[in-house]
Amino acid sequence: MGAGYSHIDCAPIYQNEKEIGLALKKLFEDGVVRREELFITSKLWCDDHAPEDVAVAIDSTLQDLQLDYVDLYLIHWPFRLKKGMSLKAENLVEPDIPSTWAAMERVYDSGKARAIGVSNFTSKKLEDLLATAQVPPAVNQVECHPVWKQTKLRSFCQQKGVHLSGYSPLGSPGSKWIESNVLTNSIIKEVAKKLGKTPAQVALRWGLQMGHSVLPKSTNEARIKDNIELFDWSIPDDLFAKFSDIKQERLGRLDFVISSESIYKSVEELWDGEI
Ligand code: A2P
Repeated sequence: MGAGYSHIDCAPIYQNEKEIGLALKKLFEDGVVRREELFITSKLWCDDHAPEDVAVAIDSTLQDLQLDYVDLYLIHWPFRLKKGMSLKAENLVEPDIPSTWAAMERVYDSGKARAIGVSNFTSKKLEDLLATAQVPPAVNQVECHPVWKQTKLRSFCQQKGVHLSGYSPLGSPGSKWIESNVLTNSIIKEVAKKLGKTPAQVALRWGLQMGHSVLPKSTNEARIKDNIELFDWSIPDDLFAKFSDIKQERLGRLDFVISSESIYKSVEELWDGEI
């Protein structure tokens, strides 16, 4: 908070909402920041898709965060899991997004979420949702960085007025799920060297210049400060153009939810060809 961040991206599956709630309470009590100066996002986990579970899930998140409302509440994944089961191919069941979304709309109407949206939706899944939604999703939070620019989805979101928010903006180095190659990409390193910035700053600034929001994670104080030094410089056009040469690759493919018995038989099917 001291470094200047005001958007906190939470989810019950991250298992840190209680800690964040305690930290926020102290910051409010000490007068460091006011609630209205922050933008707090949380998400509905995949085993809470049943409409009757959605109201319980938001109440539990608000209780943990010690807040009256979140600024944004997202359906975390378009997948639905059997209750209490972990994210594995054999635990997936057919989702019913229209009924889950109707429950999300009730959360919005209650004022417990000031905006509602989705995460990890492809253009097709977003289009299907837009066809039935009374309240259109405000945001689609997805993997987005220079190595996976979400070209098709970005253009669809722009047309429909859905804000694209990018997670893994640094390509999540060190993640056990994905093999990251963003900060080691030769074009990003070259641009960083020319501008006297770190590859992380260049990847983040690229995201801002593309027009989406970026959600970098760090547990290191120096890197937390470094990652927000983005607002008094820009990538000039000639260097920005070099990003078009970066080979595109979705890093978080989620191969582990694919199997012949799963409701998703291939990554192409899971991502509706956006792979
Ligand atoms: P750490 O917590 O040690 O800083 P993403 O935001 O794309 O998911 O990536 C998060 C990962 O990137 C974390 O492992 C984090 O490690 C690392 N990271 C965050 N900031 C930087 C940076 N400026 N340079 C290198 N690695 C970074």
